[in-house]
Amino acid sequence: MATIIDGVKVAAEVRGRAAEEVRELAAHGVTPCLAVVLVGDDPASASYVRMKERDCAEVGIESRDHRLSATTSQQELDDLIDALNADPAVHGILVQMPLPEHLDPESVIERIDPAKDVDGFHPESLGHLVRGLPGFRACTPAGVMEMLRAYDIDPSGMRAVVIGRSTIVGKPMALLLLEANATVTVCHSRTKDLEAVCREADLVVAAIGRPKMVDASYIKPGAVVIDVGINRTDEGMVGDVDFAAVEPIASAITPVPGGVGPMTRAMLMANTVAAARSAAPREQG
Ligand code: GUN
Repeated sequence: MATIIDGVKVAAEVRGRAAEEVRELAAHGVTPCLAVVLVGDDPASASYVRMKERDCAEVGIESRDHRLSATTSQQELDDLIDALNADPAVHGILVQMPLPEHLDPESVIERIDPAKDVDGFHPESLGHLVRGLPGFRACTPAGVMEMLRAYDIDPSGMRAVVIGRSTIVGKPMALLLLEANATVTVCHSRTKDLEAVCREADLVVAAIGRPKMVDASYIKPGAVVIDVGINRTDEGMVGDVDFAAVEPIASAITPVPGGVGPMTRAMLMANTVAAARSAAPREQG
C-alpha cells in the first residue's frame, strides 16, 4: 500500500507560511498584490481564476482582476501589461492561458516584467532555472518539489522519468529534479518503448494529458508516482495515472484530484509573496 501524498494538506501548509510572510510584510506597510488577466470566457479558465482569487483572500494577498473580452486586441493587452508592469502596487502578474487564437502568448509572456513573473514562464525566469540562479520557478513543477520535500522524498541519486516535455511542466520539472541531483530522463510521444523506460524509474512524473495512460506496466514496484494530469472525463476529473492499478505497487502516489492541482495554486501564492518581498526595500525607499 502506497503513501498517499496529500496535496490539499501540503498546499494548506504552503499557504499558511505565505500568510505568515504577508503579516510580516504588513508590518512594513506592504500588501502583496497579484494582478490576474483573463481574456475571453473559457469556463475552465474562469474557474481557475476564481479559485486563485479565493486563495489570495485566504493568504491576505490583494487580487486585482482584469477580465477582458474575447475580442481584445494584442495592442490592448500589451497596454494593460505595460500599465501593470509600471504600477509599483502590483507585485505579480498572471495572464491566464490559453489566450484566444488571435493573441500571441509568447509576446505576452515576454512583455511581463521578469520581477513580476509569478508564473515563471518568462524566458529570463526559465534561463535562471537552467543556470541554477534564483528566480521564479513555474508553479506546477515547484509544487511537485514541495510535495516531495514535505514527505521526505529526496530525489538525489534517484532515476527520475518525466513523461511530457511542455515548457510549463515537463521541461522545468526535469531541470528541478536535476538540480535536486536526480538522474533525469524526459519522455514524450516519440519515445520508443515508453513502458520499459518508465519501469526503470524510482520516480515517475506523469504530465501527458491522457486519462489513466500510466498503468501498472509502467511502474517499478516501490516507485514514487506523481500525477500532474487533470483530465475532465465522463467519470469526472481523472489523472494521467490509473490510480487504482498503480497505487498497490507504488511506495507513494499523488491522487487526482487532491494532489498536484492544489499545489500549483499554493506555489503561485508563495511566488507572489516572494515578489512582494523582493520589491519591499524599493517601496520603502
Ligand atoms: N492555465 C492553466 N494553468 C495555468 C497557469 O498555471 N498559469 C497560467 N497563466 N495559465 C494557466
